[in-house]
Amino acid sequence: MTVHHTQLQYLPADLKRELLPKHVAVIMDGNGRWAKRQGLPRFIGHKHGVDALKDLLRCCKDWGIGALTAYAFSTENWKRPQEEVDFLMTLFQKVLRQELREMLEENVQIRFVGNLQALPRILQEEISRSMEETKDNRAIRFTVATNYGGRQEILQACQAIAEQVKQGLLQPDEIDEATFERHLYTAGICDPDLLIRTSGEMRISNFLLWQMAYAEIYITETLWPDFDRAEFHRALSAYQQRERRFGKV
Ligand code: IPE
Ligand code: IPE
Ligand code: MG
Repeated sequence: MTVHHTQLQYLPADLKRELLPKHVAVIMDGNGRWAKRQGLPRFIGHKHGVDALKDLLRCCKDWGIGALTAYAFSTENWKRPQEEVDFLMTLFQKVLRQELREMLEENVQIRFVGNLQALPRILQEEISRSMEETKDNRAIRFTVATNYGGRQEILQACQAIAEQVKQGLLQPDEIDEATFERHLYTAGICDPDLLIRTSGEMRISNFLLWQMAYAEIYITETLWPDFDRAEFHRALSAYQQRERRFGKV
């Protein structure tokens, strides 16, 4: 992978700092196709995908973007061949272990969202450790959606709220957007301003359904392992051209 550290270490001059998204979300798609195009097995694509994510995180930090959320594994991805699922779970665990020190040094706060209890125990342990050790870091909030599904997230919020109503702690007419948001995995994190999806697929694939209500969507044909700083620069330029109206005129 080519890393454009030297050329693009600082925010490109044509981007306006005050118009940067505060929170970028990314559907990292196309690892399998990237590998296939080079006659390699799919898992090699996932490995290169990790490098692309690491550089995007560093780039967000370098350019002053305060939050990045990445879709690593969906609730539907369990339907893949068992060996690919196992490979991904092991990869997540290894990468997390390897990168923790650097995240501490670089002041990165890492959080995981999704149904984490269904993940392998050993991965759950790495997840808890990394969240605990980085919780006071403030340079960037990095959220990884793992065994995440937007519908599942909404349902578990409904169940928690229904339980409070049942116990008489809450009246149905008191359930407003703020109450609901407090029960989402993303409680406390602002909604994404920009959603990037790689590999040209024009769909959301059950990602952040509630939070995406007013996100600007940017889709590129580039496959995830090839997504670099120059690509991110293009996505941000496109974002800065958009007129965000939020229903107003
Ligand atoms: C995205 O790449 C990574 C995960 C979903 C884990 P894919 O594995 O979906 O790659 P394609 O879409 O098959 O090319
Ligand atoms: C979305 O990609 C999930 C992740 C990137 C983790 P998929 O490759 O699973 O999505 P579909 O199947 O093309 O909708
Ligand atoms: Mg895919």
